[in-house]
Amino acid sequence: MSLITELTDLVSQAFVALGLDASYGEVVVSQRPELAQFQCNGALPAAKPAGRSPRDIAQDVIDQIDQDERIGSASIAGPGFINLTLTDAALAAYTEGVIAGGRMGLRGVEPRSILVDYGGPNVAKPLHVGHLRPAIIGESIKRLLRFQGHDVIGDVHLGDWGTPMGQLIVEVEARMPELPYFDEGFSGPYPDESPVTIDELEEIYPAASQRCKDDPDAAERARRATLQLQNGRPGYRALWQHFRNVSIAAIKENYDELGVEFELWHGESDINDLLAPLIKKLVADGYAEESDGSLIIRVQTEDDNRDIPPLILAKSDGATLYSTWDLATIQDRIESLGIVEMIYVVDIRQSLHFEQVFRAARITGIAGPEIVLEHAGNGTVNGPNGKPFQTRTGGVKTLRSMLEDAAALSLDKMDARDLAAGYPQEERLSIAHMVGLAAVKFGDLSNHRESNYIFDMDRFTSFDGKTGPYLLYGTVRMSSLLRNAADLSVDPGAVVPPTYEPERALILELARFPEVIERAAELRAPNYIAEYAYELVASYNRFYEVCHVLTEDDLGRRAGWVGLVAHTRNALGHLLEVLGIEAPERM
Ligand code: ARG
Repeated sequence: MSLITELTDLVSQAFVALGLDASYGEVVVSQRPELAQFQCNGALPAAKPAGRSPRDIAQDVIDQIDQDERIGSASIAGPGFINLTLTDAALAAYTEGVIAGGRMGLRGVEPRSILVDYGGPNVAKPLHVGHLRPAIIGESIKRLLRFQGHDVIGDVHLGDWGTPMGQLIVEVEARMPELPYFDEGFSGPYPDESPVTIDELEEIYPAASQRCKDDPDAAERARRATLQLQNGRPGYRALWQHFRNVSIAAIKENYDELGVEFELWHGESDINDLLAPLIKKLVADGYAEESDGSLIIRVQTEDDNRDIPPLILAKSDGATLYSTWDLATIQDRIESLGIVEMIYVVDIRQSLHFEQVFRAARITGIAGPEIVLEHAGNGTVNGPNGKPFQTRTGGVKTLRSMLEDAAALSLDKMDARDLAAGYPQEERLSIAHMVGLAAVKFGDLSNHRESNYIFDMDRFTSFDGKTGPYLLYGTVRMSSLLRNAADLSVDPGAVVPPTYEPERALILELARFPEVIERAAELRAPNYIAEYAYELVASYNRFYEVCHVLTEDDLGRRAGWVGLVAHTRNALGHLLEVLGIEAPERM
């Protein structure tokens, strides 16, 4: 159990004994750590229903809890706040209990089947800076919920079924009309080898989209090709399959470099076979209606104080759209994967789209009330000018070049600090790579999910301040202390009652672990984890300045401190794992 929960239980019992509601007993971390470790503010709201003064109630509560051996001091502050400080023995005993429990004091959960939809890359488009936030945040939310004990999978949800596919098809036809994919009389089999490489595809894509903008005829051909692709024209399907395969191979490599991993590589197209029966049923049941030739589902309700346009299910030519696929995908995830909670980590600017899709899913009964559908929207990464991040020549920065820059700059900064000096070059490069990744990931994750932030590589790669490299350096220092302890045959011992203030502070910081995890999970907000990981390292550094662990003469205390360091390193390991950040052994 977490320390706060233990204390809340204790204080709640005291309120109950006074005939008052248990909820008044909520204990929180003190806002004035110099006065007390914890506080309870419940006597103030309890005063009115009790018909007594808050200070009187607070005094009665204190008289009871003072009996408890864990309480070092309990006192009234101001109009009736209750200040609490634990005994040093209680702090040590609590920490020992957490270490023995092996779960960092985390409560168990009723496991749910959760799917996180993140990444959302598109066929034929290289991963760029715009893909950074959903990938990193989505991965972290997945790991966080998994760490809590849920069954969680990630789905990349590839963009592979829209008009760009038709545009690519007509562009390739214009360039290579002799290919068999365009010959309706061709009876196969189609070539195994893709007619285009990923590099060619990435060049063809913007050209195709430009051509369709400039030339209405080309746009019309692309529209028809998209529809024919969706309807299953064999040559188009075969060619599209090549586009998809070469794109997936390249995208996978990019995500691998980023340390982001998906359990499912589904795409928009996967549910194509569900579409016709679904649309038919929605029409038959009266949920879908015709409007200006399109098929729509109205999702506006009377309580809305803004306009929510209807969801378009099919265009007049019968082609389906982004919304149709997302709606059918919800059905598929529930029916064939047994998912009860779907979290979409997608650009916050798509919030209207998700509002429409989720409403349509509810109205039509595709998602029953027990199913959680949530758009956990993310903000964007901006350049120093506050506009979306670009390369020096004004193009969109690819993810790969960004990570290469991060590793190179990290190596410079390691050299400036004499870190990893004298290590084999291969190891130095591998450390620089990890530091670079940590810099980029922490720089991203330390911002609130919904915020936009300015990408500042110089600041992100710094070893000072609230950064990934600072975190890794702290982690490495703990690991190295533990290795040195092992070399001296000092085993981690039972945590001893703290005597120094930074020692107490570290113990209290560690005790926050369960609350931080729960809050971050509830709000889908990895920035709480990032912030906490930083606070923990900072707290450890202050501890280490005062408590010279390995040279301590008192052997019991020395072993206890090693135990505390091991516990801190373990906590940090869990936090890094949740953030998706890997730490080197040494540097
Ligand atoms: N491919 C989409 C885009 O580039 C993002 C997909 C997000 N996921 C979803 N289920 N709609 O905008």
